[in-house]
Amino acid sequence: MFVANSAARRFVVLISGRGSNMQAIVRALRAQGASAQMCAVIASSPDAPGLAWAREQGIEATLVPHRDYASREEFDQALAQAIEAYEPHYVLLAGFMRVLTDEFVRRFEGRLINIHPSLLPLFPGLNTHRQALEAGVQWHGCTVHFVTPVLDVGPIIAQGIVPVLAGDTPQTLAERLLHIEHRVYATVAGWLAQGRVTLDDTQRVQVQGVRTRSYLFTPEGAQEEHRL
Ligand code: GRF
Repeated sequence: MFVANSAARRFVVLISGRGSNMQAIVRALRAQGASAQMCAVIASSPDAPGLAWAREQGIEATLVPHRDYASREEFDQALAQAIEAYEPHYVLLAGFMRVLTDEFVRRFEGRLINIHPSLLPLFPGLNTHRQALEAGVQWHGCTVHFVTPVLDVGPIIAQGIVPVLAGDTPQTLAERLLHIEHRVYATVAGWLAQGRVTLDDTQRVQVQGVRTRSYLFTPEGAQEEHRL
């Protein structure tokens, strides 16, 4: 049962691995001061390097190991209980590599958010960088979106865009994109903390006071931030 008991918006982040997006979110929420509270990081695997980082930062880090559960339904139930213990307003998936059941998604609908490494609706699923290179697109990107029961479909909150360069491999493209993923997810976390993100009657996202929700990759060290 969701009961918000403080003025601060409460966040839980779910990870499965490295957790670099989680780090960007944590920094962004800290920058919001008292209006945002990072309650916990929950990992689906004990090997997730992001868990150690969260603990070092003094953030509560919990493990719900998917291997301990016989079915997806049982895992999702345990995960939902672990999340609800923190009474979060928002649950942010950051490199969380488990497909969630419809029941889980409905339980958190409207407050469950994901980052996907492609410009949705292009290239849902896995191996998005390879898919982009094989399709020959010249722009690639990431999408932060509300999660709905259909995988990698859901109201888009913001997108980040990178150029595809000659000679790119899935790895080089992934590295270039990761910088903009951090920027886009951190920005969205800030908007959520400020209570600016809503869904309208047609399930389209509105962000109060924001004109552009697209971000263009800026090479390291560039003086000026390029926003489309
Ligand atoms: C990111 O590229 C994210 O878009 C994808 O998985 C990767 C996770 O990286 N879903 P990290 O764990 O946030 O470093």
